[in-house]
Amino acid sequence: MRACGPSRREALDNLVFTRAVVNEALRLYPPAPFMGREALDRDDLAGRRIEKGTQVLIAPWIVHRHRRLWDDPEHFRPERFMPPKDRDIPRGAFIPFGLGPRICIGRGFAIQEILAVLATILPVFHFRLLDPQSVVPQARITLRPAGGMPMIVTPR
Ligand code: HEM
Repeated sequence: MRACGPSRREALDNLVFTRAVVNEALRLYPPAPFMGREALDRDDLAGRRIEKGTQVLIAPWIVHRHRRLWDDPEHFRPERFMPPKDRDIPRGAFIPFGLGPRICIGRGFAIQEILAVLATILPVFHFRLLDPQSVVPQARITLRPAGGMPMIVTPR
C-alpha cells in the first residue's frame, strides 16, 4: 500500500474536501448518537426545570438533523463543511465529539486517523456497496450499520 508521502501532516491538511465528507458523515451518522448526564443539582435548561439526579440525554443524532440548525438536514451535502461556509455552523450544532469540559480528547487523532486511512486506501481501491438500500443504522452504545456494509473491493 502507498503512504501519503514524507510531509504526511501537510498532505492531510490539504484534504479539505475529504475532511468535509468525513464531517458530513459524522453529522448524519454520529458514532456516539446520544450522551447522558446526571444533574448534580437543580437547574433550568431552556426554560425547563431539571431536578437534582435527573438523567439528561443529549442526542447528536437529533441535533445534527434539526431543521432550525441545518438547511436540508436529511441530505448528504459535504459542501456545508467547506471553508468558509463552515463558519456559518452555529456552536453546538455539530457535536460528534461532544462539547465542553468532557469533549473527546481523541478527536484530533480520530480525524487524522480517518483521513490517513482514506488517503491510503482510496487511491488504490474502489469500493462499491453491494446493496445501498440495505444499509440500516443501528444505535447501541455506538452507531453502526446493522449487518455491516458488504462491499465489492476492486483495485483501481
Ligand atoms: C470518530 C471517533 C470518535 C468519536 C465520534 C468520539 C466521540 C466521543 C464523544 C461524543 C465523547 C464525549 C462523551 C460524553 O460527553 O459523554 C468522547 C469522549 C472521549 N473520547 Fe472520544 N471519540 C472518538 C475517538 C476517540 C479516540 C481515537 C480516542 C483516544 C485516542 C478517544 C478518547 C476519548 C476519551 C478519553 C473521552 C473522555 C473524555 C472525558 O470524559 O474527559 N475518542 N468521545
